[in-house]
Amino acid sequence: MRRARKKLTLVAGARPNFMKIAPIIRELKKHQDVFDWALVHTGQHYDHGMSEVFFQELGIPEPNFHMGAGGGSHAEQTARVMIGFEKYCLEHHPDLVLVVGDVNSTLACSIVAKKLNIQVAHVEAGLRSGDMSMPEEINRMVTDAISDYFFVTEPSGEKNLKREGHRPEKIHFVGHVMIDNLFFQVEQLKQMDASVFATNALKQQLGRYGVVTLHRPSNVDDETALRGIAGALIDIARDLPLIFAIHPRTAHTIEKFGIVFPDTIVCTAPLPYMEFLNLWKDAALVLTDSGGLQEETTALGVPCLTLRENTERPITIEEGTNVLVGRDPARIIAEAAKALRATKRGTRKGPRLWDGKASARIIQVLIG
Ligand code: UD1
Repeated sequence: MRRARKKLTLVAGARPNFMKIAPIIRELKKHQDVFDWALVHTGQHYDHGMSEVFFQELGIPEPNFHMGAGGGSHAEQTARVMIGFEKYCLEHHPDLVLVVGDVNSTLACSIVAKKLNIQVAHVEAGLRSGDMSMPEEINRMVTDAISDYFFVTEPSGEKNLKREGHRPEKIHFVGHVMIDNLFFQVEQLKQMDASVFATNALKQQLGRYGVVTLHRPSNVDDETALRGIAGALIDIARDLPLIFAIHPRTAHTIEKFGIVFPDTIVCTAPLPYMEFLNLWKDAALVLTDSGGLQEETTALGVPCLTLRENTERPITIEEGTNVLVGRDPARIIAEAAKALRATKRGTRKGPRLWDGKASARIIQVLIG
């Protein structure tokens, strides 16, 4: 008799989730006989440029269910996602819910699933910044407290989970699905004509440039912090023109605080994945507070300064191109100068198992 297919629901909510589910879906499509899978979009990110464009570019199919639960405070957003996802689970009865990363949707859906006795798989488990003022740290800790499968990207994740008392047989060091996607998109990019990208002319014109992204509440919601960082960027841009792809949260506070950038800093709306990759892969320097970009720059050997006091991704410092510089303007300026003086770009092969095959390993574990 044919074995019933396992009902698997994938959850995606915010921009950094989309590049992680894309390679998992590509792999699931090879195993349609084993998995009856569905995709749920919580709607945490809802702007075209933060969501839809990623679905189109990364080849992610239309979600089977869209909750439209974006906006509002953390509690409002989390609550809306929980209510919507509970309804979905009661109607569709998945055997397993797979969540990625550390956003509010990750937390909300894993709690709902677990309370309905549905198994939870957490991709990118075990990362810890030790900074409880970060909403993502709380999301990571709560999700990991109740997950059944831990898929880990780097050795620190395994160590943290063991320290927290999780059983070793539940922990699977598989590498990084986001790097699977990165390598896939780099190959796609090679086949494309660069002139299709809106920023290509700018890239040619600038020659040597840096790329900036910022969205952490601790950097962008506080006026003193944001003014300090903006001042540092303006200073760096005297020698190295910068392209600043501005997240909606940051656009809002830049306007609110009346911060104005000179022409040496080219401000753009959030960019589609390929457009952005085409820019940062050739940047002299990336300045960011993103989690994912710290890892992607390490994988391609691009120098990266992280404007945070801590990172939950220590491998990017130990083995990669990442330097933690905090948000003190003088330090940011000094570290940027140092990074630009270094003539050699990162050439390492990258952290162990960041080889483009993490999704395949995850699916093998789930097949059992
Ligand atoms: C979220 C994630 C963060 C991730 C980031 C990447 C949490 C706690 N945070 O932060 O881990 O690194 O996404 O982008 O889940 N907004 C729009 N349009 C959108 C999305 C958001 O205007 O498409 C606005 C929201 O209404 C809100 C602000 O931007 O005012 C912040 O959005 P939110 O989803 O709360 O958190 P992010 O800062 O994007």
